[in-house]
Amino acid sequence: MRTLCVGFAVALAGLACGQEKKAAVITITVPKSLFKDTVVTVDGAEVKGTGEARTFTTPALEAGKEYTFKVEAVIEPNNYTKITRPREVTVKAGDQVKVDLTAEDKKRDKIVVRWVATPDDIVDKMAELAKVTKDDVIFDPGCGDAVMLIRPVKKLGARKGIGIDIDPKMVKAAEEKAKAEGVAERVVIKEGDILSEKDMAVCAEASVVLIYIGDDLGARMAPVLQKLLKPGTRVVSHRFGLGDWKPDSTVKVTGADGDEYTLHYWEVKGKDKK
Ligand SMILES: C[S@@+](CC[C@H](N)C(=O)[O-])C[C@H]1O[C@@H](n2cnc3c(N)ncnc32)[C@H](O)[C@@H]1O
Repeated sequence: MRTLCVGFAVALAGLACGQEKKAAVITITVPKSLFKDTVVTVDGAEVKGTGEARTFTTPALEAGKEYTFKVEAVIEPNNYTKITRPREVTVKAGDQVKVDLTAEDKKRDKIVVRWVATPDDIVDKMAELAKVTKDDVIFDPGCGDAVMLIRPVKKLGARKGIGIDIDPKMVKAAEEKAKAEGVAERVVIKEGDILSEKDMAVCAEASVVLIYIGDDLGARMAPVLQKLLKPGTRVVSHRFGLGDWKPDSTVKVTGADGDEYTLHYWEVKGKDKK
């Protein structure tokens, strides 16, 4: 009887001090997976499960206090694109909260495409379509090893090549390749994200833009290109479009490997400017 009374007294004291602890439940919905199941993490730890809804139960939380968790979904719509969609969620003990990560978030999504090089002869065909001359400054957003800059500068005598890449290893590889090919002085590579308008500012100098970047990144980058590029700039994209910015023309060419390649062409007009 004495023990029971002590226990009751302790529980009462706990309640009085607001110390009763309870978990919260966060249900996270993610896009339907077309390629690979989306990975969801909360504060860096993976939330087990598959499919479009994942449930995370927090540790026991103190009543009355607010707790913020970092929720992140890594979405892979195909074998070359990774979209990281972060969100912060604030909960209290006992809450049941829903977090919807199904829709594109233009402000917070980070999109990265892996490196796949455009074959040399296709780069030459893109340069031909853009009618590259000695006066041209070429820009490649997501330049990889800089093949799209080095070839027009070396073979066609283009004045300058400017590339940005998010991967510091690719920036180093591009710089080394430009040096080995003897064009390091005319090929400038910077580490940067093509979703950052600040990093993309270098493209204002371009007269030709050569692109190979995937549909998701292309669509997100298009308004930035339209805002920053000068009227008259010629843009050629290998395989992928630029969202709502419809190309002036699209051609199919056969590569040295016998495969068919699609090339899209735009010339920036006053009306395209954002
Ligand atoms: C498909 S490769 C194309 C490389 C090169 N332009 C070519 O055609 O050979 C895409 C490149 O873009 C880079 N990249 C991916 N996401 C990026 C981002 N958000 N910002 C800048 N570069 C990115 C990758 O590191 C990779 O080198």
